[in-house]
Amino acid sequence: MSEELHIPVMAEEASSLLVANRNGFFVDGTVGMGGHAEAILRRGGERLSLLGIDRDPAAIEIAGRRLAPFAERVRLVRGNFRDLARLAAGRPADGVLLDLGVSSFQLADAARGFSYMIDGPLDMAMGPDGRSVREFLATAEERDVGRIIREYGEERRSRAIAREIVRRRARQELSTTAALRDCVAAAAPARDRFGTLSRVFQALRIWANGELEHLEAALPEALSALVPGGRIVVISYHSLEDRIVKRFFRREERGCVCPADFPQCRCGRAPRLRLLARGALRPSPEEIERNARSRSARLRAGERVSHELV
Ligand SMILES: C[S@@+](CC[C@H](N)C(=O)[O-])C[C@H]1O[C@@H](n2cnc3c(N)ncnc32)[C@H](O)[C@@H]1O
Repeated sequence: MSEELHIPVMAEEASSLLVANRNGFFVDGTVGMGGHAEAILRRGGERLSLLGIDRDPAAIEIAGRRLAPFAERVRLVRGNFRDLARLAAGRPADGVLLDLGVSSFQLADAARGFSYMIDGPLDMAMGPDGRSVREFLATAEERDVGRIIREYGEERRSRAIAREIVRRRARQELSTTAALRDCVAAAAPARDRFGTLSRVFQALRIWANGELEHLEAALPEALSALVPGGRIVVISYHSLEDRIVKRFFRREERGCVCPADFPQCRCGRAPRLRLLARGALRPSPEEIERNARSRSARLRAGERVSHELV
């Protein structure tokens, strides 16, 4: 397993925004290979403690090795970040980090079937709770295949690609990443073959792991888990994810959800979030140069405000 591959994205920005309380309790909801968790632990004082969550049992193992020097200050659990409060046993957190998407070790492992660049079984589940892409492509209606590719991949040629998938599967089941790659490549123009492949594989991965639904559910959960003054940092790599984060942050910053034409607020909802950065932060050109994976990253950060503080 290529553990040396992983360089955490925007680790300096994420840890400096997150660790306001140097000896607080932090939750890394996507611990992955433990890169961000390590940056958080190094930034804090000697009493800072961290709960690392990941839905992938392999991530828990890798992060366990990396974070072993921090001994009992770290607890790792396999689970979904949407269940953050339960996994933290209700303990309020000084900071929550979500570094979304797939980890480089998952992409690099052929047996996981995430990448069109290496041949392997067509799987793409991040953990035991994921759905099977192979089964979906074997039985789904053409219009449902097209819809997933269009909605989650924002792919213009979704219909042609879905048609090609259904045509080919009538001859032979698409059971490997290479078979899917050849099929998508046949429906994509040569000049945009790699872009199309990336979008289609990403769309199917997002569907297989319910990534957008889990993010929608996790954000209010994470904010509620924070102490007043606690911080939330979210790094996303896909415009649909970032849109969900942006809208949530805006809503919580505003508080009031009354229609715009109400002369005065009737809902009585108070703001729960203060933005720590206007808009999304992007990686520096040097970081993109060093780590191409950071290219699409968008980081958003906020601080929980309690009603008394507003
Ligand atoms: C980009 S990687 C995180 C890398 C990590 N920050 C590091 O520095 O090593 C994303 C991780 O989040 C995990 N993940 C994705 N969705 C999840 C969810 N809903 N609940 C828990 N873990 C999730 C994936 O399994 C993957 O290991």
